[in-house]
Amino acid sequence: MERVIGVIGGSGVYQMEGLEEARWQAVETPWGAPSDEILTGRVAGMRMAFLPRHGRGHVHSPSSVPYRANIDAMKRLGVSDLVAVSACGSFREDMAPGDFVIVDQFIDRTYQREKSFFGAGCVAHVAFANPTCPTLSAACLTAALDAGITVHDGGTYVAMEGPQFSTRAESEMHRAWGADLIGMTAMPEAKLAREAELCYASVAMVTDYDAWHDGHEAVDVASVIATLTGNVGKAQALIAALAPLLGPEHGACQGGCDHALDHALMTAPAK
Ligand code: ADE
Repeated sequence: MERVIGVIGGSGVYQMEGLEEARWQAVETPWGAPSDEILTGRVAGMRMAFLPRHGRGHVHSPSSVPYRANIDAMKRLGVSDLVAVSACGSFREDMAPGDFVIVDQFIDRTYQREKSFFGAGCVAHVAFANPTCPTLSAACLTAALDAGITVHDGGTYVAMEGPQFSTRAESEMHRAWGADLIGMTAMPEAKLAREAELCYASVAMVTDYDAWHDGHEAVDVASVIATLTGNVGKAQALIAALAPLLGPEHGACQGGCDHALDHALMTAPAK
């Protein structure tokens, strides 16, 4: 099938440069409106769709982002491969502000969000042990290296509810759990992408050391924005490098992302 690359931009990433035939397009879904219109266009001859997760002007908080509408809108536009970019704090000295991490595991601590397309009437449990697509994640890693970005291959991301940042005790607890990163938006996005049978990769941009590091001030919005300002160009460069690496044809996913529902449905088909 045709490969269509979707990009969900996080804090600071509200635009996608370098798209040919670019236009902002409203997409309706049964789950309501997505965070914003979606910018569609072409890169290296391939179709691409870009959605700013918080909306242009940053109007949606992490808890109020319409995650189901966002994923559904991407699916309706034909997206096969979805790259989610997000700002996050780091629990590791060596994952420093300005670095990128290709996330491969999550701990979901959010509790105020709609997390599934399924429910009463149609019950499904998708496999989620490996929550990201290995092929798309590997391509993101190569694209980041090609773009000259300091990037780490793999990391565990704690998704917290927010909107307040963590206390020092919470920060130390998450670090003791063995997590590498913390942010407020990767969940339920990654879960919904799996239910929608999309290949999903999570590209985290480290902006701060959260609240555990004695040698650094605890995170605040000013420090996040200061680092993000330098990161946004890197995120754009990564995406620009990605399209030629992937090629126009989406073959069968090695990780089975595109068949996630094959063995997930519990509800008997209607007679
Ligand atoms: N986004 C950026 N930095 C963060 C942090 N330390 N905690 C949660 N979300 C973040």
